[in-house]
Amino acid sequence: MQTIQNNQTNQLINTIAQGDCIEVMRQMPANSIDFILTDPPYLVNFRDRTGRTLQNDTSSDWLRPAMKEAYRVLRNNRLMLCFYGWPRAEKFLEAWREAGFRPVGHMVFRKSYTTKSTEFLRYQHEQAYLLAKGRPAMIGQPVADVQRLLYTGNRLHPTQKAVMSLIPVIRAYSLPGDVVLDAFCGSGSTCAAALLTGRKYIGIELDAEYHRAASERMERVEERIARRSSPSFPTGCIVSAPQRA
Ligand SMILES: C[S@@+](CC[C@H](N)C(=O)[O-])C[C@H]1O[C@@H](n2cnc3c(N)ncnc32)[C@H](O)[C@@H]1O
Repeated sequence: MQTIQNNQTNQLINTIAQGDCIEVMRQMPANSIDFILTDPPYLVNFRDRTGRTLQNDTSSDWLRPAMKEAYRVLRNNRLMLCFYGWPRAEKFLEAWREAGFRPVGHMVFRKSYTTKSTEFLRYQHEQAYLLAKGRPAMIGQPVADVQRLLYTGNRLHPTQKAVMSLIPVIRAYSLPGDVVLDAFCGSGSTCAAALLTGRKYIGIELDAEYHRAASERMERVEERIARRSSPSFPTGCIVSAPQRA
C-alpha cells in the first residue's frame, strides 16, 4: 500500500492534478510534503467585476477534511502557510487546530491597490497563518510578517497571487529540491514560485478551466527555466527581475 502511495506521489511531482484536493491528498502517503503554501477559497461568495466566481466559496464542507489531509501529508516538523478569509477566521482556525496544526505566526500581504471598499474600510491586504506540524526548525532567514503583494492583473485567475510575492516565503520555509504542495492552486502561482526557486511542486485544482491555465503556465515556466540554464544565457540567478510567469 505504501509503495503504491509513494508511486502516486512521484507521479504527481511537478504536475497539476485536476480534482478535489481531499481525494487527491488521500492517495498520497503521510509525511511526503516538505512545505505547503496554499490559498483556499475564503468562504466569502467572491465574484469579481467581470462575474468570475470560485468553486467551494460558499460552503465550508471541504475545509476540515482538506486541512486534515494537509496535516497528514506534511512531513513532521514542517510548516504550512495558508491564506484565509478574515470574515471566516474562526472556521479556519477551528479546522487547522482540529487537524493538529499549531499557529506560529500571521502574515499580512499589503497591496498598493484597493480590491473592495465598504462604508468602513478600503480593502488593501490579504492575510495568511503560518502553521506548524510538530516543532519545525527555521530553514532559511525569517521573513517579515508584512510583505508586499504585487498586482497581477488577474489575467489567468480572478484571485491570482503574484509569483514574486510568494518567492520569499518559499525560500524561508523550504530548501532547494523540497516538494512544495498547493492543494488549491488556481492558476499555479505557488507552483511557478516553487519551480523558479529550485523546488519541486505538486498543484491540485478542482476547476477544469483554472487547471488548464495552471498547466499551460507551468509549461511556459519550464521553458523559461530551460532557456536560462542553456549555455547561451548569461549565468546568474534563475529568478532575477519580476516577470510575468
Ligand atoms: C483563491 S483560489 C487560488 C488562486 C491561486 N492562489 C492563484 O494565484 O491563482 C482557490 C482555488 O481553489 C480551487 N478549489 C476550490 N475547492 C477545491 C478543492 N476541493 N480541491 C481543489 N481545488 C479547489 C478553486 O477552484 C480556486 O481556483
